[in-house]
Amino acid sequence: MAAKDTTLANYFIPKGTTLMPILTSVLFDKTEWETPDTFNPGHFLDAEGKFVKREYTFVYSSGKRVCLGEGLAKMELFLFFVGLLQKFSFSVPDGVELSTEGVTGITRVPHPFKVYAKAR
Ligand code: HEM
Repeated sequence: MAAKDTTLANYFIPKGTTLMPILTSVLFDKTEWETPDTFNPGHFLDAEGKFVKREYTFVYSSGKRVCLGEGLAKMELFLFFVGLLQKFSFSVPDGVELSTEGVTGITRVPHPFKVYAKAR
């Protein structure tokens, strides 16, 4: 919420206005990411395949504040993904092409899609 009357990039934001930052324009910025519309783990790896945190990777924070659940979320994501990938092989049905297009609201979610999950 704006703590005082503020002018930001020619927009006047009165004190008390609730603000919700949408990060899509940054996370899909064509000048920052080599292939913003494609799943590309290489965006986060250096020449030796080691993880690098890039300046524009701020999924848990966009300023001085930060997500209180970051540690828990990272742990949960790791456990869920590793658990699923160890037990199943995922593939798309013939003729189906997955897309990074989504529906933007409070969070950004993918359009409904079908995948096969085959037990390993
Ligand atoms: C993938 C999972 C998650 C993502 C991407 C995420 C992302 C974010 C982001 C971007 C913010 C706003 C930070 C800011 O003001 O700049 C936030 C705030 C917050 N998140 Fe998360 N979050 C996740 C999971 C969780 C979980 C699991 C919890 C709690 C169990 C949690 C608790 C909170 C709380 C309490 C805040 C408000 C912090 C504050 O404004 O002081 N989040 N989160």
